[in-house]
Amino acid sequence: MLNLHKDHKNLVLLAFSVFVTLSIGVAIMPAYQMEGYEPIPGMKDLTAQERRGLSIYIAEGCVGCHTQQVRNIEMDNTWGDRPSLASDYYYSKQRMDVWRQSPSLLGSERTGPDLTDIGSRQPSKDWHLLHLYNPRLVVEASVMPKYNWMFHISDTSYVEIGDVTLPRSITKMEGGDVIVASRDALDLVAYLKSLQQFSFEDYDPPMAFIPALPKDELTAVGGAKKTIGASLYQKNCAACHQTNGRGVKGAFPPLAGSLIVNNKNPEMLIKIILMGYDAREEYGVMPALGENLSDEDIKAITDHERSSWGNRAPEVPLEMITRLRDSIGNSKTQ
Ligand code: HEC
Ligand code: HEC
Repeated sequence: MLNLHKDHKNLVLLAFSVFVTLSIGVAIMPAYQMEGYEPIPGMKDLTAQERRGLSIYIAEGCVGCHTQQVRNIEMDNTWGDRPSLASDYYYSKQRMDVWRQSPSLLGSERTGPDLTDIGSRQPSKDWHLLHLYNPRLVVEASVMPKYNWMFHISDTSYVEIGDVTLPRSITKMEGGDVIVASRDALDLVAYLKSLQQFSFEDYDPPMAFIPALPKDELTAVGGAKKTIGASLYQKNCAACHQTNGRGVKGAFPPLAGSLIVNNKNPEMLIKIILMGYDAREEYGVMPALGENLSDEDIKAITDHERSSWGNRAPEVPLEMITRLRDSIGNSKTQ
């Protein structure tokens, strides 16, 4: 029998062998398995800027509240089109520098949403900058901390580099001053925008989501027409225009009471969704959303907007959406 009380040599040897066994199981074997993985063909590498953003993401401890892993269960299917694969973390095979391995930022805490696909879910740079500066400006009840030390206040929105004057990347006005994003903030946002789940086109994902409910029950849950419009709005528009349709002063205009939303002729409204919108100085830029939404989706969203928050306007004819989409498609090819 090992006498661990009296024989220190045995004690040290036992501790050492437990340490070696665990290291092999937890660190060396997984690293060895990872050797076999290849990037998915066509997957994009991070650019130099996105890589700097990755370092800031690590330095600021964002992983403490955000995961980047879509598990193969139904409830995770809001965060990506397919469950995550080992190859998705291929970037972590490249070292950050001589001393440091790039960590896989899978995370374990989901205080905030999973960020695997945040680049597709929220492509707007303005939104991300505003959200980092103060999350409460865009998400009223957010508990995410401010990262306002990545910004500074300036009285001019232009910067001179050599002989040229360039507009700086700013978030919105505060009095006459502007809030200027530092390079760190811009790099971090570039990294966030690069987070897009790589999709397989002609390829069956090797793993599917395990549904908690059978498919027909799932559709029955969100089946009513009214809720589809509301949930599509929530997913595609509410981040900027807010659930209550009131927008964010100085950044995103209200849709409640908007003349464009309530216009008897919804042509402008549909065009804004299809093509994006950048008409006024005091607001940011709205990205084009037509590619992600079918004509039926757009009808559901516009009908929701035209009948909520005190808005009263007639339903939008589906043919009009199809016609406008076609006419835009045609004008593109001309
Ligand atoms: C204390 C926990 C916490 C920390 C730390 C944190 N976040 Fe968040 N984050 C949240 C919560 C909660 C939300 C959801 C509410 C919101 O959108 O603000 C969120 C939302 C987000 C969103 C929007 C996600 C979506 O689906 O709309 C992004 C992007 C984001 N965080 C990025 C970051 C980055 C980058 C960092 C590090 C600089 C960070 N977060 C640090 C809690 C956190
Ligand atoms: C990334 C943020 C963002 C998202 C997401 C977004 N918008 Fe916008 N939207 C804006 C901004 C910014 C403007 C103002 C642009 C300007 O006037 O320069 C705007 C303007 C509008 C206007 C014009 C309102 C008025 O009265 O002037 C409508 C209508 C609109 N958006 C509808 C939508 C709908 C519908 C969706 C979802 C399908 C949506 N938006 C998603 C940022 C966004």
